[in-house]
Amino acid sequence: MSRDAADPDALPFEDETEPAAAPPRRRRSRKAAAASGESRARAVSVDPAKERLRPIPEPVTLHSHGPARVLALCNQKGGVGKTTSTINLGAALAEFGRRVLLVDFDPQGALSVGLGVYPHQLDLTVYNALMERRTAGEDVLLKTGVSGMDLLPSNIDLSAAEVQLVGEVAREQALARVLGPLLPRYDYVLIDCQPSLGLLTINALTAAHGVIVPLECEFFSLRGVALLLDTIEKVQERLNPELRVEGILATMYDARTLHAREVFSRVVDAFGDKVFQSVIARTVRFPETTVAGEPITTWAPQSPGANAYRDLAREVIARAV
Ligand SMILES: Nc1ncnc2c1ncn2[C@@H]1O[C@H](COP(=O)(O)OP(=O)(O)O)[C@@H](O)[C@H]1O
Ligand SMILES: [Mg+2]
Repeated sequence: MSRDAADPDALPFEDETEPAAAPPRRRRSRKAAAASGESRARAVSVDPAKERLRPIPEPVTLHSHGPARVLALCNQKGGVGKTTSTINLGAALAEFGRRVLLVDFDPQGALSVGLGVYPHQLDLTVYNALMERRTAGEDVLLKTGVSGMDLLPSNIDLSAAEVQLVGEVAREQALARVLGPLLPRYDYVLIDCQPSLGLLTINALTAAHGVIVPLECEFFSLRGVALLLDTIEKVQERLNPELRVEGILATMYDARTLHAREVFSRVVDAFGDKVFQSVIARTVRFPETTVAGEPITTWAPQSPGANAYRDLAREVIARAV
């Protein structure tokens, strides 16, 4: 599609890119505006996600494993793709021969369900490992259908931990204590956080080396990010100086809509190279995988969604070195 043939919806958007304080002396033609290099204007005519693509190195084969890099998938907004990204990034890392532990750290137990585990039937969950001295993480571990990927499941019991931990000594370090003995045998631990910035999430951030922030390509998604970054900074200062933002992951991206392209451009303007170039498109295949109880990499191995998470895994591996 040529730039002249830009979608008519683009017109009000292009007008918006004119600085409000200094009105242009003469209205620019659409062609001139598109050629001007303004990133938001570019978003009108081209897919800004495609524009950023650079080759990602192929992961090297590992001959030994561990200690794990711990990544928390965190965003206090619900429904942005935290759980979906935890499962599918984990499965893609496992395909590259990495040993992966997924931690379901949301009392909803969606991560466990997404891997075919029925959490209400479990006697031991991550809750027991957190709260009971006699229960170790090891006792709670489950194998998943993906070779090389294990799960620490959770269920609604975990919601009690949020309250019970408040009275404990080192209440922010409870998850780090559970994970410590498990780290030597894994390459990656991915923690699926609950949609809040409460004590469970602080525990995840305290246990983590890096945070991956899944961000739905929709205007309101941007509003909570400042608060999340502020929380991450506080945890860095007070509890975990090692913590860093590993990357921002654009999810539910629909390149056909101007809105998604515009939001993506804004995210890149704000966070630059922190934004993963791998972008997860909106597709019905993801809800299907939840029903199937398996990752998209095995449910629809050749699908664009599976390949997007493989690219993300390549980027995650490349960023850690
Ligand atoms: N890329 C996507 N395209 C379409 N639907 C998606 C996508 N990613 C996730 N979903 C669906 O959106 C819903 C919320 O995703 P989920 O991963 O559970 O978000 P969160 O863990 O942040 O609450 C789920 O039903 C999931 O299947
Ligand atoms: Mg979730």
